[in-house]
Amino acid sequence: MQSTITTESFDPFRMHAGQHLYAFDHVVQNPNFMKWPASVDKHHNWDGGLAHHTWEVIKIGLQISQEVKLDKEILVIAGLWHDYGKLWAYKIESTTIGGHNYGSSWIETSNKHLTGGHLARSYAEWIHYCSGLQMDEEFADAVGHCILSHHGSREWGSTARPQTNEAFVLHMADQISARLLGGEELAKQHDVRF
Ligand SMILES: [Fe+2]
Ligand SMILES: [Fe+2]
Repeated sequence: MQSTITTESFDPFRMHAGQHLYAFDHVVQNPNFMKWPASVDKHHNWDGGLAHHTWEVIKIGLQISQEVKLDKEILVIAGLWHDYGKLWAYKIESTTIGGHNYGSSWIETSNKHLTGGHLARSYAEWIHYCSGLQMDEEFADAVGHCILSHHGSREWGSTARPQTNEAFVLHMADQISARLLGGEELAKQHDVRF
């Protein structure tokens, strides 16, 4: 499966990034972000699946923001960065036997397990990015909380449960995208990982 999402697909979200457009572009303009899958064997596990899933999460979050009072800047930037660490969790590897190339496929990197998975890496990348820019601390923390809590519970790898409206909506949008949109009948499975 090939994703239909492109860099331009994110353009309608730009108006909500406010003064944090540079943090918006940092993710969207990363060429790997448009190529990577969101998993190797679960939801959105195809080329471009990560961008596709991210686009769905932001779109769902903004739709909810029509009904619930939310800070859209936090929601959009957190949506973009929440799975950014997956760029370090997966890599593409070719299978060559006897000099014959049998194609390539996505595999998990050892880094995924050594560094606490994509959630910790997403947070680390975000904090590293913010410190280089001397970002407003309150905004950086609000987005950081969304990233760390987007799996919803410690059992599923979050270090905190969602404690703000934006974090809760991001978590729910992540579940809707992962369970209902990015795979086959994933809602029937209880152990879906994001
Ligand atoms: Fe996600
Ligand atoms: Fe995630």
